[in-house]
Amino acid sequence: MSDPYIQELFAERIGGNQYGKSTAIYKFEKIKRAKKAASEAQPDLALIDMGVGEPDEMAFPLVVETLQHEAAKPANRGYADNGGDEFKKAAAQYMSDVFAIHDIDWESEVIHSIGSKTVLSMLPACFINPGDYVLMTVPGYPVLGTHAKYIGGEVYNMKLEAANNFLPDLDAVPSDVVAKAKIMVLNYPNNPTGASATLEFFAQAVAFAKANNIILVQDAAYASLIFEGKPVSIFQVPGAKDVAIELHSLSKSYNMTGWRIGFVVGNPLIVKAYGDMKDNSDSGQFLAIQMAGATALANPQITEEIAEKYSRRMDLLVAALNHAGFQANKPQGSFFLYVAAPKSATVAGKTTEFDSGEAFSQWLITHELISTVPWDDCGNFVRFSVTFAAKGETAEKEMATEIARRLAKYDFIF
Ligand SMILES: Cc1ncc(COP(=O)(O)O)c(C=O)c1O
Repeated sequence: MSDPYIQELFAERIGGNQYGKSTAIYKFEKIKRAKKAASEAQPDLALIDMGVGEPDEMAFPLVVETLQHEAAKPANRGYADNGGDEFKKAAAQYMSDVFAIHDIDWESEVIHSIGSKTVLSMLPACFINPGDYVLMTVPGYPVLGTHAKYIGGEVYNMKLEAANNFLPDLDAVPSDVVAKAKIMVLNYPNNPTGASATLEFFAQAVAFAKANNIILVQDAAYASLIFEGKPVSIFQVPGAKDVAIELHSLSKSYNMTGWRIGFVVGNPLIVKAYGDMKDNSDSGQFLAIQMAGATALANPQITEEIAEKYSRRMDLLVAALNHAGFQANKPQGSFFLYVAAPKSATVAGKTTEFDSGEAFSQWLITHELISTVPWDDCGNFVRFSVTFAAKGETAEKEMATEIARRLAKYDFIF
C-alpha cells in the first residue's frame, strides 16, 4: 500500500504523477510474455532462445579461481573507490596486447567501471547542460541518451542502415545539431546490427569530433569478439586520444556479465571527469573481482576461444536462415545476427502478414518457440543472438538443424 501523496512526488523525467500508470507493454516484456504463453501452449517443443544478449556459459575456471583466492584476502575487503592498481595496469597491458595501443598511462588514462552501462549513465552528468545534444545511433543501446534526456539534454538519432554498412552518415547530421552536440556515442562491433567499423570510419569520426568540438565515446563492449582479422580500437587512429574514450567490458568478452567489471580508457581529462562522477555514485568494484578481471585481461586467448564458438554458431545459423529464404550475412564480430524480417509467412495455404519486426518476432515465438529481439527503428529487423544454450559442437549443430526444421514448412516472402 502506498501513501497517496507519493504518486504526486515523482519527477517529470520518469512520468510525474502518471508514473507507473501506463499500460503500455515494452518490447522485452512482450517477448517474455510471449515466451511464457508459447511454452505453456506447446509444452513438448523446446524454446530456442536467441533473444538474450548474454553469454550462455560461465567465466573460465582460471578467472573463477582467482576470485575465490582473492576474496579470502583481508586486504581486498574494503571500498575500492576508483582504485585497484593491478586492474588498471592489466587494462593498459590489455590495450597493448590486443589492440597494439602501447601508450596508455595506467594511472591517468584508465579507471575501472562496474560495467559499461554505469559509465554510459554517468557521462551525461559530466558534460551535458540543458539543451546540449548527444549524437546516438539507432537502432542501438540507448542508455547514455536516456540519461542525457533526464538532465535536460537532447538526443539526435543517427540512423544505421544496410546501405551504409550500418555506419552513421556523419555529414547528414544537421549543422544546428552539430553546433550544440557535445558527445557522440559509437558502438562497434555494434549491438544490434553486428556491424563492425573500419579504421577509416573511426578516422572520419575522430576528424568530425575534432572539427566540431565533440567528445567521442566508443562503446567497445564487443571489440575483441571478432571472427576474422585483428580487433579494432579507436585509438589506432592517430590523435584519437585527444577527443575520445573507449568503454571496455568483460561482460561479453569473458562471459562475465554478472560480475560487473569493465574499464574506461583514453583522454585523461574525460577519464578524470568520469572518475569524479563515479566517486559520487559508487564506491568501486570489489577488489577481488578486479583481481579476477586482471587475470582475465592477461589471458586474451579466453576471448579468442569464446569468439571461435560464436563464429562456428554464426556459420550454422546463417546457413539455416538462408535455407529458409532469409538474407543473413555473417557479421565480422559480436554475437548478433541482424536480418530483415519477412513480410509474410505461408503454410498450408494460410498466409500471415507481418507489418513490423515485432509482429514477426511475436509470431516466431508463438508458433515455433524461437525467440529473437525485433528492431523497427530503421526498417523491420530481428536480432538473433548466437548465445543459445548448446553445450559442445554436436549440440550446436543439432540446434541449427532444429531451427532449419522449424522454419522449413513456411514460404517466407521478403
Ligand atoms: C552495446 C552495449 N553496451 C554496453 C552494454 C553493457 O555492458 P556491461 O555489462 O559492461 O554494463 C551492453 C550490454 O548488453 C551492450 O550491448
